[in-house]
Amino acid sequence: MPYALAVDDDENFLTALEDLAGEAGFETAMATTLEGAKGVLAHTVPDVVLMDLVLPDGSGFELLRDLESAEASTEVVLITGHASVDSAVEALRLGVTDFLLKPIDVERLRRILTDIARSRESRHQIEAVEEEVRELGRFGPLLGSSPAMKRVYRLISRVAPTEATVLLTGESGTGKDLAAQTIHQLSRRRRGELSPLNCGAISPTLIESELFGHEKGSFTGAQKRHLGYFERADGGSLFLDEITEMPLELQVKLLRVLETGQIMRIGGDRPIETDVRVITATNRPPDEAVRVGKLREDLLYRLQVFPIHLPPLRHRGRDLEHLADYFLQVLNKSEGTDKRLTREAFDKLRDHPWPGNVRELKNVVHRAFIMADGAIGPDEILLATLDKGRGDEGVAGGGEIRVPIGSSIADAEKRLILATLEGYDEDKRKSAEVLGISLKTLYNRLNAYKEEDRNH
Ligand SMILES: Nc1ncnc2c1ncn2[C@@H]1O[C@H](COP(=O)(O)OP(=O)(O)O)[C@@H](O)[C@H]1O
Ligand SMILES: [Mg+2]
Repeated sequence: MPYALAVDDDENFLTALEDLAGEAGFETAMATTLEGAKGVLAHTVPDVVLMDLVLPDGSGFELLRDLESAEASTEVVLITGHASVDSAVEALRLGVTDFLLKPIDVERLRRILTDIARSRESRHQIEAVEEEVRELGRFGPLLGSSPAMKRVYRLISRVAPTEATVLLTGESGTGKDLAAQTIHQLSRRRRGELSPLNCGAISPTLIESELFGHEKGSFTGAQKRHLGYFERADGGSLFLDEITEMPLELQVKLLRVLETGQIMRIGGDRPIETDVRVITATNRPPDEAVRVGKLREDLLYRLQVFPIHLPPLRHRGRDLEHLADYFLQVLNKSEGTDKRLTREAFDKLRDHPWPGNVRELKNVVHRAFIMADGAIGPDEILLATLDKGRGDEGVAGGGEIRVPIGSSIADAEKRLILATLEGYDEDKRKSAEVLGISLKTLYNRLNAYKEEDRNH
């Protein structure tokens, strides 16, 4: 909680300041004299000091100079009835944030305080995050400290405390579910529930009633009133996964709910206020989903206020090794074993493109763990029987790939090339032959993909 110090010899005025600061989220210490203020500053570093320049036992300037020499990042707002040009100039020279005259403009002070509180809060949070990432290589449940993931952490810590709707994108297995949980955990709603709804796993005819509920008798089979996710998640967050699988008519309704904060039960005759924060996810590139008519453009605009892209594992550098080792240690701990991955096993892991991302890695490690007695070598790393997620991404089982409608030719080509290489044990000559391209072309493509990876 941000911390304020208010200094003024008028106690009624002080109480009013405390109330205002409290509304902006500050805890406030109060002092009526210079001595009192110094006492507070001796053992705390407030985020903001609100003070009068003329105090019974001296000048506020003395305090300003103390603060300046302490090199703390404390902001100072002067509130004074005795303004002179000289004092204003001197105050600005000493770096005060703002200068207000009594009687004060309450709205203006409120704005100043809210601004300070917001910037402090996210600064504190980002510092905490960066420390955690630095020390432990993780951010809450999300492991990894690659630049791509650090960017994700920074975005999460920015948006989590707000009410903004979030759109999580990224291939399947990249950690979108985990990211949604992390956002909820860092939000003001953490004491409420995070209710997940997978729009792809529920029949299109039922989604509306699941989301918004229905009144008794509103359709055949509606025997009693049913509360939907929006009402049940009240005070919490709602995670709408695979948002592109939601029928388009319903996307229109969802957009309206996001704009108005009100829902309508099926068969209902009045709107109901809801208090829900919505987090959405998709493993389709959203622009392509719009192009092929799976996602309404207006809804995307609304969701794209805050997009967060989870990078594929192949763009995450050394995170791969840390994740593999982490998953192994979890298994070692639960089974009371001490198995480890050999250097050759790590090499093999590094050479794989991981179309199923972290989920695939976790399963591969689990299988290797079961297969090996002590040291896990490359033979125990069974990439031939990869977990392909739900078959909606990358290489599918049995030596085929699936290319979702909505992919670009370049994307399809990339998938085919990488899958072929994988299928032929990274034998480039053989793969080029099968693909009907020259070896040189194959190398050019692979270099281009590497370049892309670097730029992500
Ligand atoms: N950064 C990460 N750190 C640790 N585990 C992860 C990370 N990303 C994903 N996982 C694990 O991988 C699996 C798939 O993650 P999930 O969040 O379900 O992916 P998605 O929703 O994008 O398909 C889960 O078991 C999850 O715990
Ligand atoms: Mg998921």
